[in-house]
Amino acid sequence: MNWKFTTLPQILCQQGGRHQLGRLASALGQRVLLVTGRMSGERSQHLTDIQSSLKAANLFVHHWVQTGEPTIEDVEAGTEAARSHRCDMIIAVGGGSAIDAAKAIGGVVANGGAPLDYLEVVGAGKPLIKPALPLIAVPTTAGAGSEGTRNAVLCVKSRGVKVSMRGEQLRPHLALLDAELAVTVPPETTAATGLDCLTQLIESYTSNKAQPLTDAWALDGIQRAVPALPVVYRDGSEVNAREQMLIAALLGGLCLGNAGLGAVHGFAGPLGGSFPIPHGIACATLLVPVLSANLAKAQKTNNSELLEKYAVLGRILSQQPDLAAAIAQNQVIEQCQAFVDAFEIPPLSHYGVSEDAFPELVTAATRSSSMKYNPVPLSNHELTQCLAMAL
Ligand SMILES: [Fe+2]
Repeated sequence: MNWKFTTLPQILCQQGGRHQLGRLASALGQRVLLVTGRMSGERSQHLTDIQSSLKAANLFVHHWVQTGEPTIEDVEAGTEAARSHRCDMIIAVGGGSAIDAAKAIGGVVANGGAPLDYLEVVGAGKPLIKPALPLIAVPTTAGAGSEGTRNAVLCVKSRGVKVSMRGEQLRPHLALLDAELAVTVPPETTAATGLDCLTQLIESYTSNKAQPLTDAWALDGIQRAVPALPVVYRDGSEVNAREQMLIAALLGGLCLGNAGLGAVHGFAGPLGGSFPIPHGIACATLLVPVLSANLAKAQKTNNSELLEKYAVLGRILSQQPDLAAAIAQNQVIEQCQAFVDAFEIPPLSHYGVSEDAFPELVTAATRSSSMKYNPVPLSNHELTQCLAMAL
């Protein structure tokens, strides 16, 4: 069995760690592009804490706001801001959108040209040769694990797709997990990002490119997320549960970067590119349909390796370590459905998806990079049935 595992140079997990950002950043640069999402209310205080820490370290700071999921145009504007202020490093504070924008900006600033030069599928797909600007990623949501990955997902509105800019150079230099930054995330966002996190851990565990390290880290992440997710959904101020979710999300990012994902994420890209559906919701709606299709295929083909993995997952998800294999396998479906029900995840139709869109969505999903790693091949008919279940 051949495998390779890559990770980021440093991870710091510390409640209140944002107050250390000045000291941490001054080791990497002098002129900071501070990329955040929109921060209001209590989160503005967190932003003030961060700016004070950077000021105390005598760093120049230009604040740049990423609104919504990043587009090519956003990255162009951010690149222009970084160039005109001669920024030599980036700090991204926010969800996957802010961190992905920061990664792409850092890559383009260092390598020259425009975002499309480096985009796969719709762009020239040129490799990023030079290291991106050093990046400190500070996640405030526990979802995509972008702080641990080497890609940035960008929306190309004109083509109705989301595609990645990829390269080891894009991986953050440091991920800072400060759970105090996550306590104000509202329940709907907590639910959607949390189910993205869970989906990523499950898909990388069952991926056909899974390996010993990703297996161990994915299971550890799921073990943390299963009890913590309902707690943070109910009471966002539970800072220790928030920390467990941040660790689970980072583990998910590290696992997916090394093992790939599966059909849920194969669908999530085209769905998010064509409909106004948040990534976490797209994953949450497809999770049970895809898990059901994969399990049925594993049973039909006597795929003992995958069935054993489903049994392990079912025991962790149900928190019943002694369950017999067949019961545990079904628990994977039942427990994931219970999360979707408890969090009141709307179906795809809520976002304007209809059966008319199925053929195009299936075609796009089969071409996605994530689909390559689904543990079993699913036919176009089976994929269409997954969409119908999620509608
Ligand atoms: Fe995801």
